[in-house]
Parts: sequence; C-alpha cells; structure tokens
Amino acid sequence: MRVYITRTLPEAGIEILKEAGIEIAQYSETKELDKDEFIKTCQDFDALLIAGHVRLDEYFFSKCPHLKAVSLLSVGYDNVDINAATKYKIPVGHTPDVLSGATADTAFLLMLAASRKAFYMYDYIKQDKWHFYQPTANLGIELNNKTLGIFGMGRIGMEMAKKAKGAYNMSIIYHNRKQNNEAEQLLNARYVSFEELLEQSDVLSAHANLSEETKGIFNKEAFAKMKPSSIFINTARGALHNETDLTEAIQKGIIWGAGLDVTNPEPMSKDNILLTMPTVCVLPHQGSATIETRAAMAKLSAENIVAIANGKEMPHTVNKDVYAIQK
Ligand code: DGY
Repeated sequence: MRVYITRTLPEAGIEILKEAGIEIAQYSETKELDKDEFIKTCQDFDALLIAGHVRLDEYFFSKCPHLKAVSLLSVGYDNVDINAATKYKIPVGHTPDVLSGATADTAFLLMLAASRKAFYMYDYIKQDKWHFYQPTANLGIELNNKTLGIFGMGRIGMEMAKKAKGAYNMSIIYHNRKQNNEAEQLLNARYVSFEELLEQSDVLSAHANLSEETKGIFNKEAFAKMKPSSIFINTARGALHNETDLTEAIQKGIIWGAGLDVTNPEPMSKDNILLTMPTVCVLPHQGSATIETRAAMAKLSAENIVAIANGKEMPHTVNKDVYAIQK
C-alpha cells in the first residue's frame, strides 16, 4: 500500500507505517496544497493520511474513487464530506479520546488567561508600558465558585469540566444533544436548555462538533443573553461563533471577554481587532499540540491505515456503515 501524508507526521506514526511495510510520501512544504495538484498527486496513492484542514468534498471523492482509506490526524471531521466518502466506499478514520486532555488543557488555559488579561499584559510589557503601579488598573476576575457552562458535553467537555471543578470548585451546567449521566454523577453537572446555558454561565466553553445545527450558534442573539461578566471560550471550531457578533459583544460590554483556540477564518489576520482587546486571548488552533498527544494521534492515524492494509476495519472509523458496502 502507498500512503500520502499531507504534513510532517510525528515519528511514532511513521514507525508504525514502515513496520507494516507501507510505502509513504510526505508533503513537506509550508504552504497549503493546491486542490487540483493534490487530486493529481492522490492518483499515485492508495490511501491518505490527512493532517491540516484539507477540504475533501464530493468533487474530491469523485476524482479519487480508487482510495482505500482516508485517515485524519484529528478528532474533528467537518472538513470531510462523510456522505460522499461513504458513497465512494472509502472509510474515513479519525483520532478520538487521545487529545481530550490536551484540548481541555487549552480551554482551561484560555479561561484563566482571559480572566486575568494575561496575553494583553504580556504585550503591555513588550510595548514598554510597565512603568507605574496602579491598584485599580488591569484587574481581572476570579473563577472560584463560579458557574462553568459546557456546550457539548462529550469527551473534551467532560475533561474541561473536571479540571474546572477540581481547580476552582466551579458548578457545572451543560447543554448537549442528550444528557450525560457520567457528568451528572461524577461532577454533579446539571443539564440545562441552550437559553439557560447562556443566561447562567460565568464561563461558557464550546466543545461541540461543527454541524448545520451548531454553525454560527453563538451569534448576536446568543451573546445578548449572556452575563456582562461572562467569558466565552471556543476550542472546538471557529464557525460555531460569529466573529463580528463576538467582537461587538466584547466591545459593547455585553460579555466580558473571550478565549479562542479556533477562529473563522483560519489563520486569523494579524490585524484582527480581537488581538488588541485586553480581555481576549487567542491561540492558533493548537489545542492538541503537545509532544505526547501528537505522538498518540500519529499512532492512531497510522493504525487506522495499517488495519485497512491488512484487510481489517479501522479501529476508529467515522463512517462505519461503509464496511457494509462491498468496494
Ligand atoms: C481536531 O482534532 O479536531 C483538532 O481540532 C485539530 O484539527
């Protein structure tokens, strides 16, 4: 089997592929792949290991129906038209669980950093503004005993809730497609409507998948229902929030601040006004970026490919129904 890898993969994944006798080629440039060039390249390979947000749409699959597998180095798969992959009988794999802790750490980091204006204050020193101590200036807000609202109580949301409860004794409320018994038993989390989540959260952390249902759900109307002292955190997908509405909500004091690991579009422009706001902290989509987690993700994504090479099902398949269809 020949596999094309769209970024430099951590060694842990490369080793697994090589041990299985799989031939690999890695894209090593630092600019995005051109769509047509990419499709042309794919003709010479049996499977893809996708890192980064290459968009695999119906057109892509119609041009590459020969692919035996697409393995994503991510838990999210909103960049892939899953129905189209299934239509062309191509299994799509992903890397759940292993990145939950690291991504929740990023959400926690952004919550704390935004609450204390940390990124802005760092810049303040770099701009040579640290001259005079003023006890009433640049104050943050504390998190102890506040309410954390989780939008999307899956594996990452659960990790974030555990950390916040442990560190700050935060009360946990959540909104999800269905109730999460583990969160309710372990953390005393309380299921609330979306409206209640907006109204009651001191910190609202988004962890839901991007779908037609969740796209742009954090908009002007949603921010208007939040507390003026609240912080919005998004480590899931930038398209969950409307950036113009978020910017305006912070500028007008409708909410207090935000911590974003994901933006819309990505990359965010260096001139984006959010980057100048004291109560906003932004990171460049690096929720899972630890040595340990990236190695674990690389292993899972490689194991998904090896399974297909051995005529088996991927251990972590998004479109499981694909195996019922004969290629
Ligand atoms: C994920 O795993 O979905 C991360 O956001 C990286 O894309």
